[in-house]
Amino acid sequence: MIERHFDIPFVANLALREKQIQQNYRPIIAVHKWFARRPGTLFRALLLSEFASPPLNTSFYKANKLHGVRLADPFMGGGTPLIEANRLCCDVVGFDINPMSYWIVRQEIEHLNLVAYRHAATKLREELEVEIGHLYRTRCMECGSTQANAKYFLWVKVQACCRCGQDIDLFPGFLISEDRRHPKNVFLCQVCGELTEVGDRKQPGNCFSCGQALTLQGPARRNHCICPHCSADNKYPDARLGPPQHRMFALEYYCSECKKGHSGRFFKKPDDLDQAKFAEVKALVSEMQLQFVPEDEILPGVESDRLHRWGYRHYREMFNARQLLGLELSCRLITKQKDQRIKNALATNLSDLLRYQNMLCRYDTMALKSLDIFSVHGFPVGLVQCESNFLGIINGDKGINIGSGGWSNIIEKFFKGKSYCDAPFEIKHQGGRKVQVPIRGEWIGDIRNNGIPSEKRMVELSCRNASEVEWTPESLDAVFTDPPYFGNVQYAELMDFCYVWLRRLVGDQSPAFAKPSTRDYDELTGNINMGRGLEHFTEGLSAVFQRLAKALKPGAPLAFTYHHNSLEAYLPVAVAILDAGLTCSGSLPCPAEMGASIHISGTRSSIIDTVFVCRSTGRVPHRWITDSPEGISQLVREDFENLQAGGVKPTQGDIRCIIFGQLIRLSIWYLRHGWNSIRPCSDRLQVVADWIAEFGGLEAVEYHLRSIWLEAAANQQVMVRESQEEYAKRDAEISF
Ligand SMILES: C[S@@+](CC[C@H](N)C(=O)[O-])C[C@H]1O[C@@H](n2cnc3c(N)ncnc32)[C@H](O)[C@@H]1O
Ligand SMILES: [Zn+2]
Ligand SMILES: [Zn+2]
Ligand SMILES: [Zn+2]
Repeated sequence: MIERHFDIPFVANLALREKQIQQNYRPIIAVHKWFARRPGTLFRALLLSEFASPPLNTSFYKANKLHGVRLADPFMGGGTPLIEANRLCCDVVGFDINPMSYWIVRQEIEHLNLVAYRHAATKLREELEVEIGHLYRTRCMECGSTQANAKYFLWVKVQACCRCGQDIDLFPGFLISEDRRHPKNVFLCQVCGELTEVGDRKQPGNCFSCGQALTLQGPARRNHCICPHCSADNKYPDARLGPPQHRMFALEYYCSECKKGHSGRFFKKPDDLDQAKFAEVKALVSEMQLQFVPEDEILPGVESDRLHRWGYRHYREMFNARQLLGLELSCRLITKQKDQRIKNALATNLSDLLRYQNMLCRYDTMALKSLDIFSVHGFPVGLVQCESNFLGIINGDKGINIGSGGWSNIIEKFFKGKSYCDAPFEIKHQGGRKVQVPIRGEWIGDIRNNGIPSEKRMVELSCRNASEVEWTPESLDAVFTDPPYFGNVQYAELMDFCYVWLRRLVGDQSPAFAKPSTRDYDELTGNINMGRGLEHFTEGLSAVFQRLAKALKPGAPLAFTYHHNSLEAYLPVAVAILDAGLTCSGSLPCPAEMGASIHISGTRSSIIDTVFVCRSTGRVPHRWITDSPEGISQLVREDFENLQAGGVKPTQGDIRCIIFGQLIRLSIWYLRHGWNSIRPCSDRLQVVADWIAEFGGLEAVEYHLRSIWLEAAANQQVMVRESQEEYAKRDAEISF
């Protein structure tokens, strides 16, 4: 049972490490980008605490076979819970309203012949090389060879001046590279466009070529730019001017001939050859019949409105001619594939490649690489954009990828991801050392044909609204899920960017691609544009939970992660569990985001999820049922200490989320008798809110937590480790 066997310090430690570098713990995530994936180690731990023999820290590193367990995930997203369950031999049933989620999870689980895939992918890249390889060659500034590889082309947005009509470069600054990965700082001269390498970033001196003073700051700031020709004040963006125009101003390239004697990266100002090549592509693409480039308009939305403000109306406008050519030719080659599974894999690769092959990618001047369009959960439009080499650069002898964002990078990471399906492993930390522990006997997939006889597993995936699914009563042994959190990432708006391409390429394969957009009114996320508020969210979650409660066998768990920075957003969770007639028998904290990630770092956001465990009947530890704020504070304190024992340093925001979880669990415990699920939604939300307020609310619990609160503010002290035996010892229970 999860309530008894889940080991907070052990799981917290794993999940924390996994979130730092998720692809090392779960390489399968590399199959395709998905947002906010929960840690796989957390769901493995939940499954094993429920179904395997304890202790968890032993079963975790062994092969387990949970034959006969049928598990569902109604909100499968990137597929974490389902993949973990499939790997443990469970029968899995998954739903998601978003066709991209359905497609991605299918690709993650579908067995793939990796030798055949590698062969097909390499061939595809070679064919592209013949057709467009020359467009990614540039002249090396050192040896003069015209066969150096262009790694990244850097482009600046240009706008016609409102007064004199001449083009203005919207440079926010002139530093191209910092002196971290490259020996010197590289500055662009705003007069002649040459690149000068300097030691002191604060006093860059003069351009080596024309002698003009170099500056760090560019003219474009806070949506204004002074025209260098006539001094008029220009505002940007200006949607009336159409989609943004760009000018190529620099390249980072790679010359394998000169690399040995060269320190750092190679930068250059584009020369005539570079300009001529781009002019050639532009002319070619304007003549071509593009069959696979989507015509779709960008629909309005919370995130996509920013694109509209920048004048983008159609997805295709987010790519330059060279990118469109590469993508079109790739699609043509993919459709020729005879083997359906390999074709699907390559189509998935193309969809993932789009993230790097568009004119919203930025260049990281510190790390010296491309930042993909989804590097933050939105569509950030920069002023300087980065176009990556479409094919990717493979270093001859060792076969290592140079740079990011091309086909070779995608093939490599996909291959690693799918290899993990055949040979999954876990990572153990022994005395500061990381050891990869192969879990022989486990595998991820629908079939395995390298074993004799071949093995099959039941995998049922569909693209559907989970609140409309008809279930056979008492047919499920567990529901493990990561439901949408009110008001979080706008999955659909972002994923449409990939969907419009994928739909054109493989849309005939599945009814999931019938919809022109992945957006759906029934998607459970707060979204002002679609008129979805807290009640819509509550009703949706409640409908799904009610159906699942009936589909679960008596006492079987519905376990899910939840996370929000405001108490209000937790109320729907209580209402949905109560409506479903379930009791919350556990609320367990676990880190599930990375503190250093761009959208969390520096904010007060919490990284701690609560895992709510709910059942129709069962047992709950007696000491978890308390009727005072002080009692809750004691449980929060234990959670806090357990997290610390796992190496997590909870912040004040994290403590608050742990309190929310405990309050919601208790509100359900006390409100479940006499709960009226047919009252209007607003009343049901109010009943929970009133119960919490009467209890004393967040403040009353916080009052008893002053000492750890202050410690969290000071932040970094590690407490004494509480041993795991101690944690599990006090095990008196109450039946419900
Ligand atoms: C937080 S994500 C799940 C993430 C996933 N568990 C993982 O770890 O990768 C929530 C998912 O719920 C889906 N969703 C939202 N409303 C839905 C509905 N009514 N029916 C089915 N799925 C829905 C969204 O499309 C999204 O993929
Ligand atoms: Zn060279
Ligand atoms: Zn002007
Ligand atoms: Zn100059």
